[in-house]
Amino acid sequence: MQNDNVNLQSSDEVSYDSLIRAKSLNENRENYYIKQLCSVIDDAIKRLGKTDLSVLEIGFNNGERLRALSEKYKDLKFTGLEVREKPVEKMKAQGFDCRLVDMEMFDEFFGAEEIFDVIYGFAVIHHMSDPYKSLESIVRLLKPGGTLIFIREGHPYDVVSHLHTTLTRNWQYEMNTFKMKPGQFKKLLREYSGDCYARYDNNGITPCFKRFNKVFCKLKLHRVPFWNGFTIFMIKDLIPAD
Ligand SMILES: C[S@@+](CC[C@H](N)C(=O)[O-])C[C@H]1O[C@@H](n2cnc3c(N)ncnc32)[C@H](O)[C@@H]1O
Repeated sequence: MQNDNVNLQSSDEVSYDSLIRAKSLNENRENYYIKQLCSVIDDAIKRLGKTDLSVLEIGFNNGERLRALSEKYKDLKFTGLEVREKPVEKMKAQGFDCRLVDMEMFDEFFGAEEIFDVIYGFAVIHHMSDPYKSLESIVRLLKPGGTLIFIREGHPYDVVSHLHTTLTRNWQYEMNTFKMKPGQFKKLLREYSGDCYARYDNNGITPCFKRFNKVFCKLKLHRVPFWNGFTIFMIKDLIPAD
């Protein structure tokens, strides 16, 4: 009796509908993120009136987005940062400017001479020991008029992350996720720009399913942050605020 499922799972006849669905879900979700990023980059190109922008991704993981974006935007100069050696070596071997970083104050890593038009990251700020200080150091790496966007960052009302973090991860390590408050980010960003927001995202998955999303919005569930974390966005003022 106990092995019933093993037999079912290992059968060649089984069609893994759920896995197939999950694959398309991940693809849709990735496309959705890439679309968000492209709209930020397109806007920066238009606003700054040049196509050879410098773009930095922090925490690029396997480099999927760096690859997709550099394919689409041939004139842009992409740089990636990671704390893990293997993905850095892999990307370097493919000709990408990817660098191994061992700190969380990123301006110290680059020094004063290297600054960027666009800086982005996904689910990375919440890994910082002090997310606010790290973000501040990232703002210092931004050229005047440059754009910063961090998507899918953790927040205290994200029920799924909450459970995942408390049950399966090292609480101490992830504790800062729970301290991240959009209001504090907003306050920090306002020191540098009038054009910024830190806002809870709707569930990042629902827009991938049109019909579901319609019902979801109708029930106003998209206003309840329960999955996706928040987005931190800012355009650095050309003239720094006093
Ligand atoms: C949750 S993963 C997200 C990965 C990827 N951005 C994505 O959306 O799939 C966090 C990533 O940030 C990287 N990371 C963590 N701390 C970092 C740091 N101080 N500097 C650069 N990358 C860091 C991790 O190695 C990991 O690849």
